[in-house]
Amino acid sequence: MKRWPVAMLTVAAVLSALCGGAATAGSRWGKDYFPNVEVVTQNGERVRFYDDLIKGKIVLISFIFTSCTDLCPLTTARITQVVDRIQDQIGKTIFVVSITVDPENDTPEKMKAFADAFYKGPGWTFITGKPDDIRAINAKLGNKSDVATDHRNEIVLGNDNTGEWARNSPFADIENVELAVRDMDPAWREGHFAPMAALAPATDHQGLTLDREPGQVLFKKICAPCHTVGVGDRIGPDLLDVTVKRDQEWLKRMIMNPVRLRAEKDPTLAELDARFQGVRMPYLGMSASDATDLISYLATKSAEIADLRAQPEATHVHRHDDAAENHDHGGMVPSNP
Ligand code: HEC
Repeated sequence: MKRWPVAMLTVAAVLSALCGGAATAGSRWGKDYFPNVEVVTQNGERVRFYDDLIKGKIVLISFIFTSCTDLCPLTTARITQVVDRIQDQIGKTIFVVSITVDPENDTPEKMKAFADAFYKGPGWTFITGKPDDIRAINAKLGNKSDVATDHRNEIVLGNDNTGEWARNSPFADIENVELAVRDMDPAWREGHFAPMAALAPATDHQGLTLDREPGQVLFKKICAPCHTVGVGDRIGPDLLDVTVKRDQEWLKRMIMNPVRLRAEKDPTLAELDARFQGVRMPYLGMSASDATDLISYLATKSAEIADLRAQPEATHVHRHDDAAENHDHGGMVPSNP
């Protein structure tokens, strides 16, 4: 407890104010707390919620519904970034569980298509099941609303062995979410009680210096979980040269409101939809000036990459920099440049 990072303590303190302390450290959410009901995974397997998914594990739990057009795809893409960073533990000590908040509509098949758009490795289970059972699980985790769109966009972190549970935000810096997850493991904690600042990678704040493009910070936080520039398709298409390929006005409308564009049956978007199954670019609340900043960033970035590719000597060093910026991390990029 003493060694918890400051960010976690703050989250715990805020939550104990909000929820009467239900999810603060030390509370025992264990065998007798969670419904041990049967749930169905994205692969159609029937498992017991507590016995098979929680018992003896460190877990990161998120709440989604597959028809969600705003935050759930972004939340899930950010968890993908965390999972990329904990490859050494995922499926071994740390497990991710994404629970639907819309069990009436989210069949295992829909959960599978959604899951596959984000991650195909071990250690991450997407679950649905009988509506009453799923709602009971959600309620125990703090999601009491019956309306899917009202669900919390928080994540819950827990260690069933120690009984420590906390809430966190998938929109915090990815490094901090990674540390908060790792910090659930007392063995890891033993070796890592350095201050958070010392643990954060040195590249962390690179994107925040003022001489950078204004769209860059926005891109890193909101778009990079799904898109790269010049590194390859990820959850969404690679955006290298998209400003050349597409009309400026179309790009602006796409960034500001892809949901409306889709409703209008835009043929370019229909083509992209066919290529990227299981996930749709969400509505992210971008204003016209955000969109302009982002487009300008994408144009500058593409031009920089074209320059670098014209000078093979420098390519290696700068590629690494690109990867760090695009993904919040240096490795585990699924596609090749
Ligand atoms: C949850 C994942 C996700 C996030 C977050 C996201 N996108 Fe997308 N994006 C997609 C997908 C998937 C597509 C492909 C179209 C579709 O099926 O919706 C796409 C398509 C696009 C396209 C069209 C690409 C082309 O080839 O024409 C642009 C431009 C774009 N996104 C920009 C952005 C920007 C800018 C942001 C950040 C503000 C962003 N996206 C955030 C998933 C995402």
